[in-house]
Amino acid sequence: MQLLAELSAESARTYDPDPRGMLDARDAVCGYYADHGASIQAEQIFLTTSTSEGYSWLFRLLCDAGDEVLIAQPSYPLFDLLATIDDVKLAPYGLLYDPGGDHGWSLDLHALRERITQRTRAVIVVHPNNPTGHYTSPNERAALSALCREHGLALIVDEVFLDYPFVGQTSAEANGSFARGEQTALTFVLSGLSKIAALPQMKASWIVCLGPEDVRNEAMRRLEIIADTFLSMNTPVQHAVPGWLAGRGAIQRQIRERVERNLSALDRAIAQDHAIARLACEGGWYATLRTPTFASGEALAIRLIENRGVAVHPGSFFGFAEHNRLVASLLPEPDVFGEGVAALIAEAASPVT
Ligand SMILES: Cc1ncc(COP(=O)(O)O)c(C=O)c1O
Repeated sequence: MQLLAELSAESARTYDPDPRGMLDARDAVCGYYADHGASIQAEQIFLTTSTSEGYSWLFRLLCDAGDEVLIAQPSYPLFDLLATIDDVKLAPYGLLYDPGGDHGWSLDLHALRERITQRTRAVIVVHPNNPTGHYTSPNERAALSALCREHGLALIVDEVFLDYPFVGQTSAEANGSFARGEQTALTFVLSGLSKIAALPQMKASWIVCLGPEDVRNEAMRRLEIIADTFLSMNTPVQHAVPGWLAGRGAIQRQIRERVERNLSALDRAIAQDHAIARLACEGGWYATLRTPTFASGEALAIRLIENRGVAVHPGSFFGFAEHNRLVASLLPEPDVFGEGVAALIAEAASPVT
């Protein structure tokens, strides 16, 4: 109820648009970054209706038709569509997985460098990545920034899952927002209430513009024209942003507890079963599973939904190169999640027909 009460501000009757979004809302976003140890000015922030819209504006800002943007793979599947709609080509670079390594996942920086061409305009990094839950390390961050600076590329950092590190992942907590510290390349940090406050239906997100002042100011000047063309944020939502952001702590705690509990239950269940293994992850809302090699993740996902009514995503949706990967959401009610895991174990063990 309190949630919707935030939408009824009297002042929302007035239409007085600012291309960057209302100052009070942007000040609240600055407060969010201050809580993350980053000092951001309101003028560096552009409010958008979604992170997806933020991507679209950045593609428009940075790319001509046919230009390329580098993106880690596996990653969030919507990027393909977002880029295609804006006539941008995505060029994938690998995320490497070392089960014996300290953190499991790392960016293939060598492959990234090799994929840069005359048409490359930006590098996207999802921090922590969806679905692998890998937080970009300080070394990776420094290397990415240096590479972008050297080649005149922008760095686009998607931090929608930043606030969801798993307990004990001190590396994840240490690898904070890219908005913190110095940015040596033109950098855009994307986030929003869809994950931060678990309010995807309210459509409130933002772009933070960072980096050396000259290139940043020029980018902000041009971004303002794109934002002014759409003025897509509605006024009541902008009035509500400070209250919704202030209330994020309680819902984030609930989500973290749920995710941790389901992750532990999953680990306990598959500890007895060597056919299924969980890949390392440091945060986020998903677990990536390695399933037996005799059935593809896709075939197993179809059998699970058809035979047992359990929905998991095939790894191929996220661009996993290996065919035997599944991605499971850690958000369901614990009882439901437990039943789903039991069904997965049983289905993975049953012969392929
Ligand atoms: C990594 C990542 N970025 C962006 C989004 C989209 O967020 P929004 O609802 O703000 O468009 C999602 C949604 O799941 C996501 O996983």
